[in-house]
Amino acid sequence: MVHYQRSHFCGDLRQSDVGHSVTLTGWVHRLRDFGGIIFLDLRDRYGITQIVLDLNKNPDIYTLGQGLKAEYVIAIRGEVSKRQDPNPKIPTGEIEIFATELHVLSKSDVPPFTIADSTIEVNEELRLTYRYLDMRKGKILHNLVLRHKAMLATRKFLDSQNFTEVVTPILGKSTPEGARDYLVPSRVSPGMFYALPQSPQMYKQLLMIGGLDRYFQIALCFRDEDLRADRQPEFAQIDMEMSFATQEELFSIVEELMQAIFQACGDIPLDAPFLRMTYNDCMERYGCDKPDLRFGMELQRLDRLVKESAFPPFVQALSHEGCIKGFCIQGGADISRKKIDEYTQFAVQFGLQGLYWIKRQEGAYSSSIAKFLSDEQKDELGVALGLQEGDAAFIVCGSTKKVNQTLDHLRRRIAADRNIIDKTQYKFLWVTDFPLFAWNGEEERLESEHHPFTSPHLDDMHLLETDPLKVRSSSYDLVLNGYEIASGSQRIHDSDLQDAIFRVLGLDEKMRLERFGFFIEALKYGTPPHIGLALGFDRIVMVLTDAEGIRDVIAFPKTNRASDLMTGAPAEVAQVQLQELKIATT
Ligand code: AMO
Repeated sequence: MVHYQRSHFCGDLRQSDVGHSVTLTGWVHRLRDFGGIIFLDLRDRYGITQIVLDLNKNPDIYTLGQGLKAEYVIAIRGEVSKRQDPNPKIPTGEIEIFATELHVLSKSDVPPFTIADSTIEVNEELRLTYRYLDMRKGKILHNLVLRHKAMLATRKFLDSQNFTEVVTPILGKSTPEGARDYLVPSRVSPGMFYALPQSPQMYKQLLMIGGLDRYFQIALCFRDEDLRADRQPEFAQIDMEMSFATQEELFSIVEELMQAIFQACGDIPLDAPFLRMTYNDCMERYGCDKPDLRFGMELQRLDRLVKESAFPPFVQALSHEGCIKGFCIQGGADISRKKIDEYTQFAVQFGLQGLYWIKRQEGAYSSSIAKFLSDEQKDELGVALGLQEGDAAFIVCGSTKKVNQTLDHLRRRIAADRNIIDKTQYKFLWVTDFPLFAWNGEEERLESEHHPFTSPHLDDMHLLETDPLKVRSSSYDLVLNGYEIASGSQRIHDSDLQDAIFRVLGLDEKMRLERFGFFIEALKYGTPPHIGLALGFDRIVMVLTDAEGIRDVIAFPKTNRASDLMTGAPAEVAQVQLQELKIATT
């Protein structure tokens, strides 16, 4: 087999190299045959260089060139020349190479989509099936390189802060993070299963008990849950834990870590300390716990103002402990009737009766519910919503949960439609004081809002047994541009309290012992107070690369049905493998 040692990459050569003899290798990107002269764009990861195959100068090479096709892998030798018609669009646009040697290193079948032309839309299924060809188009490769830089910056920074990276088991015992486990059957213990880690949560706490003091890991996690644009069944976390540290220390280390990553990945300066807001304030002001702060449109509560109104939905909402909230859209008076109908359709999906609007134009208010409002109420609403000339506001009413959910989605949708999101901004927010528990209506039981190792807020300890839904936790999320990019908490370091939490969660003694006995026991041998969090690494890279979804920053991602279209996983296995595992399928 011939091997050609390249002298340069395809993005290297400039006018200063004119006259030099070079060897380049790469893929045939584009070919243009003008009869007697072929222009060939040669591509590698680093760029594109124009190669000229000239019949007059080198007939053999020209003939060879006539047999080339897109995506053939070739090596060429030749002399760098100044280009007569420079191409300012590419860094090597001032030069070209007259080939004196050409070797085909590998042929290519016609690819299922054109790699050279990124303006042609290719459906995602096809791109995922031929992931390696999609990579060649460049965008995914760029994201992978950036991901690598973020990883290096993480390791370098955390090492400088005394964190030790420790690899924890992949074949382990289930850690409850709220999703279903991926299970791996054991051959030597038939009927027994390992669970792939949803996170290394218990292991990292055990490392604190073991005395490691500061741990981190770029850890792969596996969760069988409904997938979305920012969720994959296997994803990476920057997982961290610290002993004897306060929340303030952790926040400041994470802020510095984010600064280091953003610096390394594009020289992006970040202001610190990051903003903070309690969960309750966040829900009240944005209707969700991961608000995008790159634009305003804060929600306003209007209950008090319209409580005298005769508008039946308002009356009904208030009499059922619901609420009335709305937000103002600057310049929104130009939103058409058609668009309002669209937004109404969108809003009612979340279970509310309707979407109401009020506009201020030419010094007067108009509203879809004008006849139910006195002039004074309209004025008061206008002031409360901050309506200026030319603005509009949307208002909804109903249960607080649905009102918040609707307005959160509507706020994001309108911001996107009106193109008011400044993509150059990175708005971080710490959300603190989450509730410790949430009510699972379907299963009629309490579940942990974060995970069961989260410490209750010290001020709310007394409510644990009597009014658990009122207990706040010592936990926090980090939000970036509307994505939850990290989550963590102060941990419980007392075995009795840990046991009590499992009890409140409805685990009977047998279950507590079976699932968490080893852990509760470990807590009994002198556990240091410890605190930690995990950052969603893929999500951070997704925001950094302004990718459309998480799949664009993972080398070999899965579809929303958790399958790998390229390899065909998951797949059936041989009967003999199932027999060895004592597994019967129907
Ligand atoms: P949590 O479950 O909130 O916390 O996960 C931490 C962060 O991981 C990211 N993330 C995901 N990213 C992509 N795909 C997914 N399916 C996915 N699920 C979560 C999010 C999230 O904020 N053990 C705790 C952390 C701790 O308490 O230290 C945990 O895993 O960005």
